[in-house]
Amino acid sequence: MTDLTQLQSDLTAQIAAATDVAGVEAIRVAALGKSGSISALLKTLGAMSPDERKEKGPLINQLRDAVSAAIAERKTALETAELDARLARESLDLTLPARPRRKGSVHPTMQTMDEMVAVFAEMGFAVAEGPDIEDDFHNFTALNFPPKHPAREMHDTFFFNEGPDGERKLLRTHTSPVQVRAMRKGNTAPPAPWIAAGQEPPIRIIVPGRTYRMDSDATHTPMFHQIEGLVIDKGIHMGHLKWTLETFIARFFETDAVTTRFRPHHFPFTEPSAEMDVGCDRSGGEVKIGTGSDWLEILGCGMVHPNVLRHCGIDPDVYQGFAFGMGVDRLGTLKYGMPDLRDMFASDTRWLAHYGFSAFQAPNLVSGLS
Ligand code: PHE
Repeated sequence: MTDLTQLQSDLTAQIAAATDVAGVEAIRVAALGKSGSISALLKTLGAMSPDERKEKGPLINQLRDAVSAAIAERKTALETAELDARLARESLDLTLPARPRRKGSVHPTMQTMDEMVAVFAEMGFAVAEGPDIEDDFHNFTALNFPPKHPAREMHDTFFFNEGPDGERKLLRTHTSPVQVRAMRKGNTAPPAPWIAAGQEPPIRIIVPGRTYRMDSDATHTPMFHQIEGLVIDKGIHMGHLKWTLETFIARFFETDAVTTRFRPHHFPFTEPSAEMDVGCDRSGGEVKIGTGSDWLEILGCGMVHPNVLRHCGIDPDVYQGFAFGMGVDRLGTLKYGMPDLRDMFASDTRWLAHYGFSAFQAPNLVSGLS
């Protein structure tokens, strides 16, 4: 029987020495598995005489139970230790500061556009929109550009190839075609509920959007943004136009210090026509507004030409109106002091990080002149 005692103390020592669950499992297989040492002993019982079996059976069973219990106990202990180690290893340090997240910013053009729309919205203008790809009728003909007239060339138009119907579509050179779309009542379903469809006068809309011309230098880019304005009602005159634009400039730049002047000009779709300049200072190589004795052109405007009203089915003897169109990007560069218009579209993330706006800053008028 010393064999059994010896075997038990050997196995117990091995079990105690096992350092992981897999080690304990190996001992279990070696002792209690099909061809394990204890299983072999149990098999010998069958060949014994009843007396011998009576004597040795309980001892072998006791050995098996003791070893099984030791194995189970050691397994549980090791599993608990492994879990504890894992919990300690994988614990979260909630006091660590979060990793900084890369944040996008609002592009200065969109910020400027939002600010402009906010000013006009307060003055009672609704927003209208039209397509970037226009036809000759809306971009030129309805706006009183004479056929084959060089005025059509004055915009350096991007034309598409002729379609099967012989028509050449174009990228709109200004937002003025939306004047026509707004006045030709019933001609377009509004693209969104907040956008005005063609309507009867009175009309009071602004049209923010992209425009395209073959042009590129420090103050021109082939794609740029305009905001068009159109007011049609009875008894509208130049005084309304002047007040609207002067009020807009003061609110947009958040100061009364910006001086303005109107110069006579020519547009086929307005009569009389004017350009508006803002007073500025160019002495330091950069343009500063609200100071100085130079002038910078920022928009075109005028009284809507009677022919344009007629093209849109509005009687010019009953209704009059004014219109204006201004460059959003250029006004943004002026307000926020950017020297080169082309940077607006260069997609340089350093420039955007410097000039971009927080997405959580609502379109408002908080920034002001620096
Ligand atoms: N469409 C003109 C331009 O882009 C601006 C303008 C709009 C002028 C409305 C008069 C009236 O130059």
